[in-house]
Amino acid sequence: MENSVKTAVVTGVSSGIGLALTKKLLAEHYTVIGTTRSGQLSGFDHPRLHVVPLEATDEQSRTQAAARIRALTTGLDLLVNNAGTAPDVFAVEPAYGAFTQTLDTNVTGVVFFTELLLPHVRLGGQIMFVSSNMGLPRNAAPNGPGYRLSKAAINMYAAMLATRLADRHIRVTPLHPGWVQTKLGGDQAPATPEQAAIGIYQAVVSAPETGQFYNVALSGVEPF
Ligand SMILES: NC(=O)c1ccc[n+]([C@@H]2O[C@H](COP(=O)([O-])OP(=O)(O)OC[C@H]3O[C@@H](n4cnc5c(N)ncnc54)[C@H](OP(=O)(O)O)[C@@H]3O)[C@@H](O)[C@H]2O)c1
Repeated sequence: MENSVKTAVVTGVSSGIGLALTKKLLAEHYTVIGTTRSGQLSGFDHPRLHVVPLEATDEQSRTQAAARIRALTTGLDLLVNNAGTAPDVFAVEPAYGAFTQTLDTNVTGVVFFTELLLPHVRLGGQIMFVSSNMGLPRNAAPNGPGYRLSKAAINMYAAMLATRLADRHIRVTPLHPGWVQTKLGGDQAPATPEQAAIGIYQAVVSAPETGQFYNVALSGVEPF
């Protein structure tokens, strides 16, 4: 592995925010271990980029991905839980399949993948959750039942983790990346993935207080 200052893991780098953030972190001299479901990333390569397979909903896949990550590095400075799905974002009534797929991916997958990597995050490291302001209670519009609940749950997990990891000085940040032009966000969104990546990197370097909710669109923290 080529020498670099810091090592980051970013999940879901096949497209959208994850891919743009990967490129931004590489430009900022990080070594990046990105995950995709296939373990491949077509159309982009870099000497400091490693791609490992991760299907977030599959326990064996999570375990194998974590083992591969541990073998690639001596410790993590940054973990960005970015992979996510939103199949019911336009629905009002919860449909069982979309609901459980969303919770399995955005909550169970994220929580248990994070737990596997926790021992490997360096003292003073950072854990970020690409969440959504749709998961804030004051934004309780009726659409997206699984999606809103999943992001609300991950906001709470992040807040709990912040307390739990305080003695290791690991900063935990749930964040809203803005409304972003991606497969998930659609093409009407005002922000590009590159703008979102710059905003997330700003959250990395600006050191918000651990456990606070960071809104990239506001360039700062906002209350839960
Ligand atoms: N775009 C927005 O406006 C917006 C707003 C708020 C929050 N977010 C959040 O931003 C994050 C990134 O989304 P995006 O907008 O960049 O959309 P995207 O382009 O669709 O990217 C989503 C990523 O998550 C991966 N993924 C989905 N399900 C997975 C699973 N079961 N296992 C492993 N990986 C999985 C996808 O992989 P595949 O390519 O294999 O499907 C893809 O790499 C999500 O957590 C989303 O909730 C986005």
